[in-house]
Amino acid sequence: MEISQELVDAINDQINFELYSAFIYLSMGTWFEEHNLIGMAHWMEVQYQEEFAHAMRFYRHLTERGARVLMKQIEAPKTEWKSAHEIFADAYHHETLVTERIYKIGDIADKLGDRSTQSMLSWFYNEQTEEEANTMGIRDKLKLIGDSIPALLQLDSELSARPPAGPIPADSTAP
Ligand code: FEO
Repeated sequence: MEISQELVDAINDQINFELYSAFIYLSMGTWFEEHNLIGMAHWMEVQYQEEFAHAMRFYRHLTERGARVLMKQIEAPKTEWKSAHEIFADAYHHETLVTERIYKIGDIADKLGDRSTQSMLSWFYNEQTEEEANTMGIRDKLKLIGDSIPALLQLDSELSARPPAGPIPADSTAP
């Protein structure tokens, strides 16, 4: 089944948004570097890698379906925040936007009966549940921590243990 131009356009936009997401997390990472929260900087660097892998998963889907990927200008991310809590609140909010966008692509795939795209998207539905839970959980811990420096450093140490992102998927349906 030939992929429709409506889906190609929506997925192209999502490739751009995933790369924008990668830039956002790298920007957050450099803020943490500057503020000597190295564990959180590491967490953001891994997240940056994950976002790049998400973009590539959509990229592979378009190329597997014989469609052309169009690289577009990536918006500059925010660079200044007041606190670690504000950063993770932004991260959680950003993930809810990503989820909404992916659900909209799912709505188009459902309307067109494009089962191949539906199958590819099912991985993202689970991933977004995890991404929202992770960022919400850290945001909520930071709210509890408040102004406690020892507790902040303890959380920073915990986040330094985040394992590196897996390899870029070879195809769009890789587990
Ligand atoms: Fe690619 Fe964090 O969603």
